[in-house]
Amino acid sequence: MPAGQSVPIAAACGLAPIDAIAIIDLGTNMRSLQRPLGTGYTAHSTTLDVIRGKNLAGQLAIVTGGHAGLGLEAARTLSEAGARVIVPARAVDRARRAVAEAGGGIEVRKMDLTDPASIDSFAREIVQSGLAVNILINNAGIMASPILERDARGNELQLSTNHLGHFQLTSRLWPALRRAGGARVVSVSSLGHHLSGIEWDDINFEKRARRPPTFE
Ligand SMILES: NC(=O)c1ccc[n+]([C@@H]2O[C@H](COP(=O)([O-])OP(=O)(O)OC[C@H]3O[C@@H](n4cnc5c(N)ncnc54)[C@H](OP(=O)(O)O)[C@@H]3O)[C@@H](O)[C@H]2O)c1
Repeated sequence: MPAGQSVPIAAACGLAPIDAIAIIDLGTNMRSLQRPLGTGYTAHSTTLDVIRGKNLAGQLAIVTGGHAGLGLEAARTLSEAGARVIVPARAVDRARRAVAEAGGGIEVRKMDLTDPASIDSFAREIVQSGLAVNILINNAGIMASPILERDARGNELQLSTNHLGHFQLTSRLWPALRRAGGARVVSVSSLGHHLSGIEWDDINFEKRARRPPTFE
């Protein structure tokens, strides 16, 4: 995200611009364009390829959406490598059943990415407990809903879930991320972003029709 775009995003999240500025100023790499890290991994690499030989004992990882799909694979692999893994989820009981079926060892706590109060509450608990967050994987997401849905603040639901919620979560967890001294924040993306950029002058589809992509 260009540095100048952080302030409208912060406003849409209900955050003071200072939170967004803090995020940009604290991580100098965030000012730069994205570049491949040169890891050697490809689209065919598995979580086990990536984790092989790594011992994450003593590290804390938070994986949003870590009870389903790709997030569950990431959460399980991090846990098997020794990390303490916390999955914030909106449907806690369902999420607990899913991680238990996947082998257990993963904590589930309440958080809904479209509900700013629940994000604050989840993050406050982590920060106030003095924990350091070594890894934050912003993985949860929704896509291509056939209808235009909005959250309680009127923000379009995909923007709210995938972007605004994670922006607020990362911002609120910032003290715990700093505490780790070299934390990594991963924002899971999609090739789908090639279909369209973000229309910054109408991020909530208030002026134009929303046409979800079709996949054939
Ligand atoms: N699968 C693919 O082929 C693919 C391709 C490109 C990119 N991606 C990206 O990879 C990530 C994971 O995709 P996936 O296919 O594994 O997704 P998925 O199986 O549909 O799981 C999505 C997860 O996000 C959670 N979530 C949705 N809304 C939430 C909210 N408001 N608050 C908290 N959690 C919420 C869901 O929880 P609930 O159980 O409560 O709904 C679920 O755990 C997404 O960011 C997606 O855009 C996936």
